[in-house]
Amino acid sequence: MGKYIINGGNRLEGEVRVEGSKNAVLPILAASIINGGESIIHNVPYLKDVNTLVNVLNTIGCSCSFEGNTMIVNSSGELNINIPEKPVREMRSSIILMGAMLGRFKRVKISFPGGCEIGLRPIDLHLAGLKLLGAKIVESHGYILCECDKLHGNEIHLDYPSVGATENIMLAAVSAEGVTIIQNAAREPEIADLQEFLNKMGARITGGGSSTIRIQGIREFQNVEHTVIPDRIVAGTYMVAAAITGGKVVIRDVIPEHIKPIISKLGESGCKIYRHDQSIGISCSKRPNAVEFVKTMPYPGFPTDMQAQMMALMCTAKGTSIFIETIFENRYKHAEELIKMGADIKIEGRAAIVKGVNDLMGAHVVSRDLRGGAALVLAGLAAEGTTVVDNVDTHIDRGYDSLDTKLRSLGADIAKDEN
Ligand code: EPU
Repeated sequence: MGKYIINGGNRLEGEVRVEGSKNAVLPILAASIINGGESIIHNVPYLKDVNTLVNVLNTIGCSCSFEGNTMIVNSSGELNINIPEKPVREMRSSIILMGAMLGRFKRVKISFPGGCEIGLRPIDLHLAGLKLLGAKIVESHGYILCECDKLHGNEIHLDYPSVGATENIMLAAVSAEGVTIIQNAAREPEIADLQEFLNKMGARITGGGSSTIRIQGIREFQNVEHTVIPDRIVAGTYMVAAAITGGKVVIRDVIPEHIKPIISKLGESGCKIYRHDQSIGISCSKRPNAVEFVKTMPYPGFPTDMQAQMMALMCTAKGTSIFIETIFENRYKHAEELIKMGADIKIEGRAAIVKGVNDLMGAHVVSRDLRGGAALVLAGLAAEGTTVVDNVDTHIDRGYDSLDTKLRSLGADIAKDEN
């Protein structure tokens, strides 16, 4: 399971480099199926979720090799259209394989991903979009069989700007006959990165990163080489690490534009933030001010993936903050653990009321999901005494590459116990 043991109180100082984005690389790995050739992908982070998806790709017949942070995927030849069940149950985002497989082989069988730690997470929008492209979908015994003679372009209006549904539709539509327009598409930077990867492969997509995406389907794809964008949530997590310890940190390899909503909230809390090309400097000398209102929204709103980390910071702030989680219905599990560390938090449905306390205290806490786990590590950095964060392998390692090593390089007293 793995645990982090943190002796809190050290002020973080120095420089840290942000790894490639988990939520960009996962759909890009799925997209590497489409060309039936070679994809060279740079800036791939070492993460459990990346491993899970690479294992699936290997199992269905691709060959994937890692050299440093470069992954080479070869998807030539026939692939097995039956996606193994275990990884899909383990990692919900494997569902994005559906669009890519359907586009290339016109048939895919995949198990229903089901709910997860942060909510029910249905895939109705993915399925409705693929149906509009001509797929026939049969659901039985927990499996989805998706097939078609050919895919055809269509106009698809998403009821909600779902990231995964937008990606799945793009991955299928690049191989469809004619033009597909996705209205109310998700605008996250990871969508624009997927567009760039697909276009380098020969696809003709415009609008990725805006709410209308236009995809002209094509028949032939080519080999591709691409560098994944930096992880904006990892960058935000290190910014909070600096803020919660009253530290001064330079975060390298970020796209400041992608983290504007995080910069804005940390600015409100009293941190001084400097932007310089691909770096962000953050310096926070005193106890943070409470931020009146943190409401999670689809991009470019405040990201749900930073809600837990921001809550850890607000637990130590002067005053009261109100959080509203609008994206996932069950994303406050970290609150219970933060309370064990002395935090004053009340949850009321989608709202959390956080009254800042003078000091957090070290405690034995359990990470229940990826970002919630990161929030507990951040709280541990600020707490008096020792904090043990359990379940690191199951959750935190899914989305942070060498979190403990990077925090140690900034002066944190954190060690990993593999047991
Ligand atoms: N939704 C539906 N029906 C659908 C699809 C989504 O009701 O068919 C609902 C979901 O249940 C959820 C909301 O819409 O309540 C948003 O879901 P979305 O599809 O946008 O999210 P996702 O694609 O499942 C990605 C990230 C998440 C991130 C969300 C929101 C990846 C692999 N995952 O999930 O990342 O929180 O977008 O930004 O890209 C994380 O990294 O910790 C993480 C959870």
